[in-house]
Amino acid sequence: MPSIFDTAAASSAIPITFATTSTWPAIRDGLSDEARRFATANGFAAKPGACLILPAPDGQIAQVLFGLEDETAKHKDLFRPGALAGVLPAGTYRFANTPHDARLAALALALGSYRFTRYRKADAPDVRLALPDGLDAAELARVADAATLARDLVNTPSNDMGPVELALAAQQLAERHGARFRCVVGDELVQQNFPLIHAVGMASTRAPRLIELLWGDPTHPKVTLVGKGVCFDSGGLDLKTSSGMLLMKKDMGGAANVLALAQMVMDAKLKVRLRVLIPAVENAVSGCAFRPLDVFASRKGITVEIGNTDAEGRLILADALAYADEETPDLLIDMGTLTGAARVALGPELPPFYTQDEALAADVARCAAAENDPLWRMPLWAPYDSWLDSKVATINNAPSNGFAGSITCALFLQRFVAQAKSWLHLDIYAWTPSSKPGRPEGGECQGARALYKLLSERYG
Ligand code: BES
Ligand code: MN
Ligand code: ZN
Repeated sequence: MPSIFDTAAASSAIPITFATTSTWPAIRDGLSDEARRFATANGFAAKPGACLILPAPDGQIAQVLFGLEDETAKHKDLFRPGALAGVLPAGTYRFANTPHDARLAALALALGSYRFTRYRKADAPDVRLALPDGLDAAELARVADAATLARDLVNTPSNDMGPVELALAAQQLAERHGARFRCVVGDELVQQNFPLIHAVGMASTRAPRLIELLWGDPTHPKVTLVGKGVCFDSGGLDLKTSSGMLLMKKDMGGAANVLALAQMVMDAKLKVRLRVLIPAVENAVSGCAFRPLDVFASRKGITVEIGNTDAEGRLILADALAYADEETPDLLIDMGTLTGAARVALGPELPPFYTQDEALAADVARCAAAENDPLWRMPLWAPYDSWLDSKVATINNAPSNGFAGSITCALFLQRFVAQAKSWLHLDIYAWTPSSKPGRPEGGECQGARALYKLLSERYG
């Protein structure tokens, strides 16, 4: 997608004036008599999200007024200006004054301009922005482009986004940035000791695979990203209900987001040795599907009893994490749409994250807030660890008591990480249920922007 940021054209751009209920009287007094009367006639009072297009005498657009929360408001939606992408006519605009956060406002406009156009053309007008001084167009475009990648991957339906297509997306990314790429496919997963990835993926006619991308100077700190790539989650034989299954094309949202993060890291040439691992499978139903109470030895040797085939994400991540852990990475990050319980606990907009590294936790929380890419820490609560006990194997993949599902999933994954200097786990939703400013309904980039800021600070 071409960048919405226009580096020339600032003089001819249409000004957007931001106003709040407290700044509006002074702004109104500065308008021409006609404009003031027009605003009054339209009942414009600078309420948050209100937009008024002021005409010039010749019928052209003179300027745009847009309402924001008061400086003192309990909550300010820093993406609020992203709503302009849906209401303004095509053209190039500029900020006439400064919104609460100009960088996030510009980013929100770019993120709000996203449309999924794979199967039909966009219905939204082409809104462009002449960036205010001091904002880095390349950096903003890098982030917006990565979000577009994540959203496109998630929005693409399963029939066009199976394990093969997901691998192809990773391969194209690798080729663009000169990264090494490899895939372990189908029965090779058994030979190369990825038994859980194989077990989950074997029911589908579309062979499971472990996608691997390797980039950067081998002497730099080792950062490894692992993303859940379940291209469709039917639940397997512990089949989901129809409403539970409906959105499950998004179950590769973790993979989409680690690819988005990897794209930003490589494009910005951060000083890391980056490794991306994506176990890509379809959790399907067939005669060769894995079953409830099957037991598999994992890559790490831990045996796993299958309490529920619908807890498949943690299974494929377990083998990928164990593999990642073998080289003792400096920072190991995994992301996945792992539990409905995360959504129940915090809702779709606030994914939980887990880590034992206190400094990392503080950095994640701070970067998430700074990027308006919210994340909330939840605990790796050791007293619940025994809930993973199995009577026949080392652990069970689905504790049956129904409590703290996102936490017990994180505790399950923790069993497969031993050597990494630092481990971070995100249980994301990867979907915006209904449009908000800067966040159109559909697949969402979650966590990747916050983590890109964190990695930029540490390795920029
Ligand atoms: N992909 C789902 C989790 C999910 C569901 C994320 C809905 C977002 C929205 C995952 O594979 C799953 O089915 N998890 C089960 C685990 C349970 C069987 C222990 C869940 O959350 O119900
Ligand atoms: Mn599932
Ligand atoms: Zn799943």
